[in-house]
Amino acid sequence: MRNKRRVATALGIDFNLHHLSAGETTDSVLELVARLNASPGVDAILVQLPLPVLIDPARVIEAVDPGKDADGFHPLNIGRLAEGRPGLALPGTPAGCMELLRHYAVPVSGARAVVIGRSTIVGRPMALLLVNANATVTICHSRTVDLPGICREADILVVAAGRPGMVDSTYVKPGACVIDVGTTLVEGKLCGDVDFDSVRQVAGHLSPVPGGVGPMTIAMLMRNTLALARARRVITD
Ligand code: GUN
Repeated sequence: MRNKRRVATALGIDFNLHHLSAGETTDSVLELVARLNASPGVDAILVQLPLPVLIDPARVIEAVDPGKDADGFHPLNIGRLAEGRPGLALPGTPAGCMELLRHYAVPVSGARAVVIGRSTIVGRPMALLLVNANATVTICHSRTVDLPGICREADILVVAAGRPGMVDSTYVKPGACVIDVGTTLVEGKLCGDVDFDSVRQVAGHLSPVPGGVGPMTIAMLMRNTLALARARRVITD
C-alpha cells in the first residue's frame, strides 16, 4: 500500500487510504463502499485483499461500482474478461505480466502457456488474458499430476503458487519465458516462487523478485485508474 500511495502521489492521483479498524464488519465496509460509489470525486476504488476474516470479500467486491472497479475484480468485469471483451480496468498483476511479455516481444499468439495457481487475483485472470491473446493455456494447481512435466511444455510459464523457490530448472523448457509472481516473506526477505539461480541457466527470459512483476502491478493499477477517470469525464482525446 505504501508503494501504491507513493506512485499515485507522484502521478498526481489523489490517494485516500481507508484503513479498516478491528471492529469493522461486512456491513460497515459496505457502507464505506456505498459512500465512495456515490462520491463524484472518487474515480476508482481498490479493495485490498485479503480482507480481515470476518469481512466477506465477495459481498464487498460486488458492491463496488463496476465503473470504479480499480482492478477489475467485480464479477461483471471478470465476466467481460472471460467473454473476451474486457472493460477498462484489467486485474493488475496479470495485466503487468502481459505488459512484460509485450515489452520484451515474447510471442503469445499460438504459444503454449502454463499458469501455476488458480487464485482470483492472479491465476484465473492471467489465464483469461493469455487465452484472449491467443495462447494455448493450461492452469495448474496443487492437485495437478506431473506438474514439472506440464510446465516443461510451456513457452510461457507464469508462476503464482505462493511457494517460495518451488520452480527450478527441471520445470523449464530451454528458452522459455518464466514470470515469477511469488511474493513470500522468508525471514524478512521477499522471495519468489522461482529458484532464480537454477532457472536462469535454462530460461530465455526470467522476471526477478523483487523488482519484476510487483512494480508492474502498481503501474497497471495506475493505468486502470486513469482509464476509469477519463471514462467518467468522457474524455475522448
Ligand atoms: N492483494 C494482493 N494483490 C492484490 C491486487 O492486485 N489487488 C487487490 N485488490 N488486492 C490484492
